[in-house]
Amino acid sequence: MERTLIKDTLEKIDQEVTIKGWVENYRLMGKVAFVTLRDRSGIVQCVGVKMFKDITNETVIEVKGKVNARPENQINPDMITGTIEIEVLEYKVLNKANPLPIPVIGDGYDIKEEARLKFRYLDLRRERMRKVLKLRSKLAFEFRNAFLNRGFTEVETPMLTASTKEGSRDFVVPSRLNPGKFYALPQSPQQYKQLLMTAGVENYFQLARCIRDEDLRADRGFEHTQIDVETSFRTQEEIMQLIESIVKEVAAKFDVKLTTTDFPRIPYDQAIEKYGADKFDMRTEEQKKNGELAFAWVHKFPFFKKVDSDDKAEVRDGKSGWTFTHNPFSMPNEEYLEWHLNGENIGDIVSQQYDLVCNGYEVGGGSVRAHKAEILRATYKIMGYSDSEIESGVGHMLKAFDLGTPPHGGIALGLDRLVMLFAGEESLKETIAFPMTYGGKTSVMEGPGTISKEQMNELGIKTLASDINDGKDMVKAIKSLLDAKEFQYEYSVHEETPTSEDSARVRGTKESEEVKAIILKGKKSEKNYIVNIPGNMRIDFKAVEEIVGEKVEMEKPEVIKERYGLIIGGVPPFGNLLDIPNYFDEKVTVEERSAFNCGLRTESIVMKSNQLIDAAGGIVGNFIKD
Ligand code: AMO
Repeated sequence: MERTLIKDTLEKIDQEVTIKGWVENYRLMGKVAFVTLRDRSGIVQCVGVKMFKDITNETVIEVKGKVNARPENQINPDMITGTIEIEVLEYKVLNKANPLPIPVIGDGYDIKEEARLKFRYLDLRRERMRKVLKLRSKLAFEFRNAFLNRGFTEVETPMLTASTKEGSRDFVVPSRLNPGKFYALPQSPQQYKQLLMTAGVENYFQLARCIRDEDLRADRGFEHTQIDVETSFRTQEEIMQLIESIVKEVAAKFDVKLTTTDFPRIPYDQAIEKYGADKFDMRTEEQKKNGELAFAWVHKFPFFKKVDSDDKAEVRDGKSGWTFTHNPFSMPNEEYLEWHLNGENIGDIVSQQYDLVCNGYEVGGGSVRAHKAEILRATYKIMGYSDSEIESGVGHMLKAFDLGTPPHGGIALGLDRLVMLFAGEESLKETIAFPMTYGGKTSVMEGPGTISKEQMNELGIKTLASDINDGKDMVKAIKSLLDAKEFQYEYSVHEETPTSEDSARVRGTKESEEVKAIILKGKKSEKNYIVNIPGNMRIDFKAVEEIVGEKVEMEKPEVIKERYGLIIGGVPPFGNLLDIPNYFDEKVTVEERSAFNCGLRTESIVMKSNQLIDAAGGIVGNFIKD
């Protein structure tokens, strides 16, 4: 018999149906068993006599049964199918579920992030997550529809490309055909979408995946999706009106309330004066309680700002001490064009840039672009680029701008942030099917991972770890890693200090500042793990076993010597340089300094504990006995 969706059983009273889904709940009362069955459309109660013997929660079953109306006094108003129940005639187990590692009932906010992401396919079964996924799909659809209805064309742009300089670090991909060379993943389709204007597409949009190596936050991921737009022959005013009309049209399809019919426009200076930031929340307490959305435009941004000397990307891009505030491809306001071309009054140049903000988040940003080569060239000159640097960076754009590029501009809206706001969630992770952890680890699968020596050879690349054969190499690798990160450290050569006690005495450090690196072996996988704990503490094997998921024992000294070229007492807390998973006990972070032998028993490093963990990577947890 054909499958009926659970929500449709309501219309089949007194008929036989076949339904399929997951057992959300199972209760046995005497001989009568009650099963709450769930599919993508809803849940329903199934009742069977002398049935469902070996059923567990979340087992997938098929039920053939009769739809019965419930008597008046048994109606359950909390269930969409609360007026009926299914009298089971036959059932079949399609896939039995073992006990679940995380519950799938409830909102899930109280479950640890690692567990939720490791078993994300279970986490996504909860009703809240299923609703968010649906909302995301509908939001994407409605935006697509709105653009298509206005004569826009969706065009895909490459994922493997050259660096796009959107103000963050690039993720790079090695090229096998060009060993030692790298593609960059796009931080956004910015340059391609402008070139589509040169191509005469006129109205472009794309739901574009963008990839940026940024510091992760609740509202920022390595990957995000933009509703990316570019259009020709429109003024700033026309672009803002177009986008505003689309956002309102889309919002009207959802159960959300906007605080104002027209989005207020706030000049950048006023925003800073009034809110202290260029993104702000304009809602009253009452409006917050009602979950309203308060959109506003910020415009009249300065084109340039002074480089923040702590921001490496800015220092690199702004060689003159000036860098762009938003997007180097923007157009200055007409009345500032003269200054721009002459590189005068740089801090006072106002650009045709605009941001869309909502409830304290930046949900979109765009600009009218410089579409003439001389203007873009002037932008890079102001940032201190030489002619040849300009040519190698954006020469392709300059060339296109001399071959009939129309005036154009655009915007990108952050889809993830919009979903978050429409769904009333507080983290982007709640809006993405398979998000990353704060530590940049992938859901369910173990990424990033190492690759084989053969793969590396084929790609013509080496890691710091690939050059390490013995303790001497290790010392060199650690020093170059710390130098590359510009971390301060004290390096010293001394008598042999095989134990933490010896080391503390010779280095003049406290034993609690010593970091003991212990190499363990998984009894099942035979894989090595390295656990780093304070010198005066003892390792808790149970705690380690819980996190690595298998029994562990100390690795044999001769294996450590043979495999890593290291002797006990010389092993440093750098699992990343040995290509093995690295764990730090959280007590390591209690002391400001960390001291350790850095590959040999006679050479050591003292450095800041937080920088050690940054450089060595790994998971921080509780791995010692009290
Ligand atoms: P911008 O860098 O401002 O502009 O990005 C546009 C919008 O994308 C969202 N966004 C993010 N969302 C989640 N995680 C991130 N790491 C992240 N980074 C950005 C924000 C932001 O407003 N090419 C230009 C657009 C243009 O000028 O047309 C650009 O990428 O909501």
